[in-house]
Amino acid sequence: MIVPAPFDVESVRSDFPILASTVHGKPLTYLDSAATSQKPQSVVSAIEKYYALENANIHRGLHYLSEKATDAYESTRVQVADFIGVSDSDTIIFTRGATESINIIAHGFVESVLQKGDEILISHMEHHANIVPWQIACEKTGAILKVSPVNEDGSLDLVAMEQLINERTKLLAIVHVSNSLGTVNPVEAIIKIAHANAVPVLLDGSQSVPHQTVDISKIGCDFFVFSGHKILGPTGIGVLWAKREWLEQFPPYQSGGDMIERVDFDGTTYKAIPGKFEAGTPHIAGVIGLSAAIRYLNDMDRLGAYRHEQELLSLATEQLQDINGLRIIGTASPKASVISFVFDGIHAHDIGTFLDADAIAIRSGHHCTQPLLKRFGVPATARASFAFYNNEDDVDRLVKALKKLKKFFT
Ligand code: ALA
Repeated sequence: MIVPAPFDVESVRSDFPILASTVHGKPLTYLDSAATSQKPQSVVSAIEKYYALENANIHRGLHYLSEKATDAYESTRVQVADFIGVSDSDTIIFTRGATESINIIAHGFVESVLQKGDEILISHMEHHANIVPWQIACEKTGAILKVSPVNEDGSLDLVAMEQLINERTKLLAIVHVSNSLGTVNPVEAIIKIAHANAVPVLLDGSQSVPHQTVDISKIGCDFFVFSGHKILGPTGIGVLWAKREWLEQFPPYQSGGDMIERVDFDGTTYKAIPGKFEAGTPHIAGVIGLSAAIRYLNDMDRLGAYRHEQELLSLATEQLQDINGLRIIGTASPKASVISFVFDGIHAHDIGTFLDADAIAIRSGHHCTQPLLKRFGVPATARASFAFYNNEDDVDRLVKALKKLKKFFT
């Protein structure tokens, strides 16, 4: 049996300048990667190099720098397609983030699919970004939003989900990995159920892509979205992938420069995809940063990183469970390295503030999943989310600080 080499977390950490910094005079423990990941130096340098030495607009100039920027932008489209197992790179659309990607899909459904009485099915564990656009789509068209329930452990009730699908269901829009609970949804089984009923599936991959390789050719969804900033890239850049026929059917979401073929006062024709969905000067530096981020991920031992994150998850879960009065919300398996918890009698915001004094960054609040937290009877949780660049010291610091907090408040 070949034993895999241990994941070299200390070497990885040295690629992330912020991890060596201090906050309030103490070494930073960053446990908020589900909100946004930290950036390796290679991503920061790629963005700096573009702005310092290679800045130009794309698709417009016939000069050297414009062509160079255009090449960098368009070759990233191919790189992103490879990264998520898509063969047709024209079906990769650059957006501002997963939120904008979902809004583009919802707009497409409003304009070209939904009729009064149609149904959109989502789950109770969705991020607001996969709830509100569908509520608005339903308000505009008279369609109905249906919500599939979540079990007590934070898993999806697939039997109930199947029962909610019927001939009026036009889309199942579901999160791949829950940002609040960490639950990894069995998306292949879900897609099988949906497709057996001729229902297309949108997967929100914002929290799956950071933790695992995603191969759309195997998963078989119809739409997939994610944000660059959660996978080591810059903010303001995201990806929408959809099957070609959907993108061709949907009208443009925004209009203006660069998305047209020909403009006349009598009428305008649009570029084919992907250009049709990328009006205006795009976030070129964001795309260049995303490219560097994907290069970093592709060059690293992703399976080792995943195993390392899972070890941190187990270690932290065991120790947190032992703290009297602390309750973990979301215990389903498999889970990504996210732990949401509440403490008897202590508000999640107080937990966040207390930990911050020890330079431990977690997120406290509803995590943009208010209906989900309501389902669990809590207004807010404290959430520690681990990335591959966290180490056991980070877990120790968290556990020690929580024990200190308990003493302080009792
Ligand atoms: N959706 C991000 C989170 O879970 C911001 O924190």
